[in-house]
Amino acid sequence: MAPTMASVFLPLLAATGSALAAKFSPSSVSRSTTGFGNTLPNKFIVEVDNASDIPGKRALDTRSAHEVVYDSLRKRDLGFQVEKEFNSPGLFLGSVLTLDNANDAAKVLDIPGVKAIRPVTLIPAPKPVKLHVVTGPDDPQVPPDTESTHILTGIFGKGIKIGMCSSEVNLPHPRSIDTGIDYTNPFLGGAFGPGNKVIGGFDFVGDAYGTNTPMPDDDPLDQCNGHGTHVGGIIGADPNNPFNISGVASQASINAYRVFGCEGSVTDDILIEALLQGVKDGNNILTMSLGGTDGWTESSSSVVSSRIAASGRIVTIAAGNDGSKGSWYTSSPGNGINAISVASLDNTVIPLQNATVHGVAHDPIPYFDALPLPVNATLPIFATSNDTTVVDDACNPLPDDTPDLSGFIVVVRRGTCTFVQKLTNIAAKGGQVSLIYDNGNGFSNIDVGNFTAVLIQAADGEFLVNQFAAGVPVAISFPQTGASFQFPDPSGGLISSFTSYGPTNDFFFKPAVAAPGGNILSTFPVPLGTFAVLSGTSMATPFMAGVSALLFEVRGTSAQTAKIARTLFESTAQRISSSHTDGDPLQTVTQQGAGLVDAFRAIHADVLVSPTELITNDTAHFRGVQTFTVKNTGTSEKTFKLSHIPAGTALTVQPASSQVLQDSIFPADGPVPLNATAAKVSFSPKSLTVRPGQTKTVTVNITPPKGLDAKTFPVFSGFIQLSNGNESYQVTYLGLAAALKDMPVVDNTDVFFGVDLPTLVDGQGNFFSDPENFTFAGADFPSVLMRLNFGTPKLRFDLVDSDIKLNTTLNTRGVEEGGTHVFEREVFSFPHNPGQGTFAKVKVLGTIFEADFQPRNSDVNDGTGFNELSIPTPQFANGTTIPNGSYRILLRALKVTGDPTKEEDFESWLSPVIGVQVPS
Ligand SMILES: *[C@@H]1O[C@H](CO)[C@@H](O)[C@H](O)[C@H]1NC(C)=O
Ligand SMILES: *[C@@H]1O[C@H](CO)[C@@H](O)[C@H](O)[C@H]1NC(C)=O
Ligand SMILES: *[C@@H]1O[C@H](CO)[C@@H](O)[C@H](O)[C@H]1NC(C)=O
Ligand SMILES: *[C@@H]1O[C@H](CO)[C@@H](O)[C@H](O)[C@H]1NC(C)=O
Ligand SMILES: *[C@@H]1O[C@H](CO)[C@@H](O)[C@H](O)[C@H]1NC(C)=O
Ligand SMILES: *[C@@H]1O[C@H](CO)[C@@H](O)[C@H](O)[C@H]1NC(C)=O
Ligand SMILES: *[C@@H]1O[C@H](CO)[C@@H](O)[C@H](O)[C@H]1NC(C)=O
Repeated sequence: MAPTMASVFLPLLAATGSALAAKFSPSSVSRSTTGFGNTLPNKFIVEVDNASDIPGKRALDTRSAHEVVYDSLRKRDLGFQVEKEFNSPGLFLGSVLTLDNANDAAKVLDIPGVKAIRPVTLIPAPKPVKLHVVTGPDDPQVPPDTESTHILTGIFGKGIKIGMCSSEVNLPHPRSIDTGIDYTNPFLGGAFGPGNKVIGGFDFVGDAYGTNTPMPDDDPLDQCNGHGTHVGGIIGADPNNPFNISGVASQASINAYRVFGCEGSVTDDILIEALLQGVKDGNNILTMSLGGTDGWTESSSSVVSSRIAASGRIVTIAAGNDGSKGSWYTSSPGNGINAISVASLDNTVIPLQNATVHGVAHDPIPYFDALPLPVNATLPIFATSNDTTVVDDACNPLPDDTPDLSGFIVVVRRGTCTFVQKLTNIAAKGGQVSLIYDNGNGFSNIDVGNFTAVLIQAADGEFLVNQFAAGVPVAISFPQTGASFQFPDPSGGLISSFTSYGPTNDFFFKPAVAAPGGNILSTFPVPLGTFAVLSGTSMATPFMAGVSALLFEVRGTSAQTAKIARTLFESTAQRISSSHTDGDPLQTVTQQGAGLVDAFRAIHADVLVSPTELITNDTAHFRGVQTFTVKNTGTSEKTFKLSHIPAGTALTVQPASSQVLQDSIFPADGPVPLNATAAKVSFSPKSLTVRPGQTKTVTVNITPPKGLDAKTFPVFSGFIQLSNGNESYQVTYLGLAAALKDMPVVDNTDVFFGVDLPTLVDGQGNFFSDPENFTFAGADFPSVLMRLNFGTPKLRFDLVDSDIKLNTTLNTRGVEEGGTHVFEREVFSFPHNPGQGTFAKVKVLGTIFEADFQPRNSDVNDGTGFNELSIPTPQFANGTTIPNGSYRILLRALKVTGDPTKEEDFESWLSPVIGVQVPS
């Protein structure tokens, strides 16, 4: 955000902030360092050069690159411990080190031979969006086999090796323990080892990992959770099972690498180990149904995944299930530049149940549950209100004259208060079973706690209430068998709303393609039911791994096939609309990627269009003129006509709202609003003829859409179609009609905590702005509470003199309002020596915390909503004691695409005065 814009935003936000209730409660602040990419204290992944490339290392020196670096560390008295080493020349050489002092990280980076140092980060266990263990072939919840299988005949991925980093998730109820893929499932081969479907693998962690240190063993058996077993079945379940499903590549061989315990997260060093092992074991494809919110392409596991893909293997990784959190929010390692990040498509039907109506002629009433409500009796209905437009039905205790409801099916309207609140009021009158009818919010799964209640559609509810009011004796029953109903999913065939939105903050194209991932039936551990229905990008990802196996089987397993795989998938994918309403635009490619994979067309394509991702980048780095080539690998001449097919432009930041009369700085939640104003695209030539073996070049000129508010950071996208009769291929494009550097990085509003952020928090958990002294005994220490409204490549907290004269970008309000932060507005003088950089000219006493490539925060208080930096000991990050005295904390966050040597490319905030007063 440019300083001039800041002064426009701030006063307006101040005026409206007080009118809005704070979103988060101050008590949600935990007073420990949270957020900041979930890094492990003092643990770093250090990447080293090849031994021969280390400057100053002599040819006769036989030490390994690792040893050379350790010796240099020792020479400099940097305390460290080697936790593990990676030794895959060409892919990754390095170690996991625990440093005695976390701030030695900067010094480690200066050592000859050290290429990169990154903190070890945590990646949470994947959570399926929906989970159901099916009970048998007659289970009503078995979805029809619409998308997931039999996609091609005669190709089963035979001889292709797929390494899956299997993962576990918590089931909603506790399970007894055990361990990656349950190969004892008869449809996953029933056994483990060469000759079976699951030919091998490794357990890097053991069951107790997550709460424990990893306990590796060579058996990836999964019987405690099931996610990995479900993923394995999507890749390769055998046909001829009771459900008549089969994996996409049922003759492929699977190596399972278990990286999650029964509960908890995994650290990315373990992912890297598993990936490198997967390469050593000769897998053609590596697939990972996991990830953590990131937004950057730079994490260690992203970088390694990308290198593996570039070296000639197909790497498929989930895009993430954070669609509700809006754009710029895809996961790592799926963000790895050359990896195939996978979006999910919703199945066309939802398996629901019907209730039967008695006493009046009416069709069965579908209710939103996969399993029948456990109610045997046929019971009369009772409506809590006879008014079908009541907005707050049963939100208050029911009237005294309400009869005992235990013998009724209670009918109540959705709205105003929570479902649990309504049901609690109904239960107070004895009600045990309720039908809640929709008020226009949408027919979906609802949270009813442990009550026996389900949602029905508005029209059915209104019918029942009207009958009740008219005195018609209507009763309802819930058939326990035979009442399953394949409800046509209104969002069927669309991208699953849970799919995370890209692009990355460095403007890479994520996700790449979509595959079915909503309501997928697949194998499950035998002790947990053998089959289950799950939803998530975790389910779409193994589908892509399976399709990749088919591609390899037909085209051969060469590195060349792997390197063009994503291009083939993207150029032949099917474009997906943003809705089923005629005239609505195509879904933004930031959520659908290039569209739904079309295995047949990808495998049999005899035209290679490349590249398939034309990225114009932002307006400050705009590349509007681009080229792609069209290579005819077939046997006949083809003439292609080119046309432009725009997708909806994603308004990634909330537009100015008339209600609050202000510009919002916050990213828009999903579903991200689309605008039909599209880019203009012209090409030359407009049509082309390519003979067999010939390659031709097309030049494209992309002009961003005009008239959109740049403050909504509009991400435009679309397709260039090449058609030759029935045959067609496509190229996608993606750009930003704004400059990334203008995106406000640090949240400086009071919307989330009722006070302006960033703020200091004292030992009692109070926000403070007047000077305060701290003894650093017990809880008597300060913390900084802040939110990142957008990702930042560099975040730094330095201690500065309390009298510093500095013009920060985020504290100007104190000056304007005469509030507590009064800083002299002495203009920062830029030095004339550009070599040093203006950033380095700011006089700091020492660094307290520094982190690179931080993701933005979400607006949900689930651990991703804010960051907190606690300072429990009066020490700089390098371990040096902070002497008693009075200081301020200077927070600086680099704007995306900013220059880290330029102070003016950072947003900055200076804290109130903190006194360090440790008693002597
Ligand atoms: C379920 O209810 C719907 C809507 O009334 C109806 O079309 C369908 O036939 C019913 N199916 C079963 C199995 O009862
Ligand atoms: C419904 O009836 C079946 C068969 O009689 C019985 O097994 C089941 O427990 C009953 N369920 C309830 C909720 O009463
Ligand atoms: C239902 O949930 C409430 C609130 O969580 C709890 O107090 C109650 O014990 C639960 N009842 C049953 C039967 O599980
Ligand atoms: C709703 O209608 C029924 C049937 O006519 C009647 O018995 C009941 O009192 C009405 N409820 C209310 C709140 O008016
Ligand atoms: C977009 O431009 C920025 C700034 O030059 C650069 O860092 C980034 O890599 C570019 N992104 C792509 C996809 O080229
Ligand atoms: C799209 O943006 C244009 C230009 O700002 C505006 O006129 C139009 O109303 C927008 N359309 C939608 C559907 O928001
Ligand atoms: C902090 O301690 C110093 C040294 O004792 C004292 O001069 C100062 O007034 C104290 N400040 C506050 C706000 O208590």
